[in-house]
Amino acid sequence: MSGITYDYMEQYIKSLINEDSEILKELESFANENSVPIVQKETGKFLEFMVAVKKPLKILELGTAIGYSAILMCMNSGKNTKITTIERDDKMVKIASDNIFKYGYKDKIEVLQGDCLEVLKSLDDEFDMIFMDAGKGHYNHFLPECLRLLNKDGIIVADNVLFRGMVANNELVQRRKITIVKRMRKYLDLVSNDDKLITSIIPMGDGIAVTTRRNIDNE
Ligand SMILES: C[S@@+](CC[C@H](N)C(=O)[O-])C[C@H]1O[C@@H](n2cnc3c(N)ncnc32)[C@H](O)[C@@H]1O
Repeated sequence: MSGITYDYMEQYIKSLINEDSEILKELESFANENSVPIVQKETGKFLEFMVAVKKPLKILELGTAIGYSAILMCMNSGKNTKITTIERDDKMVKIASDNIFKYGYKDKIEVLQGDCLEVLKSLDDEFDMIFMDAGKGHYNHFLPECLRLLNKDGIIVADNVLFRGMVANNELVQRRKITIVKRMRKYLDLVSNDDKLITSIIPMGDGIAVTTRRNIDNE
């Protein structure tokens, strides 16, 4: 289990999520069989929810893997929504591109190959929603670029921010994960203690942080 919440709570929440999309089921099976990490079920549901509420026209994703979360967001968004997703691993780029083509999303999802930080620096666009799900030890480095690319009222959804509970509890920290933990704490500190931002941290899945800008119209 995740180390984030009680096992019985997690199991119960997961049991309420009925996946009825054959596409997502197929992608999930592939991910499980090939040990590819994809968003947890409840995180996927949360993304669906955010897309339904926010109705973003442009979504940026960091970390494509096999394209599961990009396809999930795409399935739940409007016909004009475009998703740009960044992945550095050649094999994953190929698998994700094949999946995006196979399931008919090639006009809506673009995969950019490269390291997130480098690709972020090269982008010059405005996104309504940014989903961070790559390079857990670098969210604090990605943040300035993500804020530069985020619309005035855009949202950043960052996954794995509690990292199996380690970020919140020193006793859980594995030695080889210490750098990731320290940097993730830095990210959470940055988004929680900046007067211009509002962040809500949700102990769901592996921990999710949702960040938006404070409403400047009220100032
Ligand atoms: C957790 S998986 C993404 C899962 C995907 N969002 C989903 O739920 O379907 C993280 C992916 O990010 C990629 N990755 C890790 N660090 C990266 C970096 N610095 N730049 C680009 N991709 C990176 C990994 O190769 C991996 O495929």
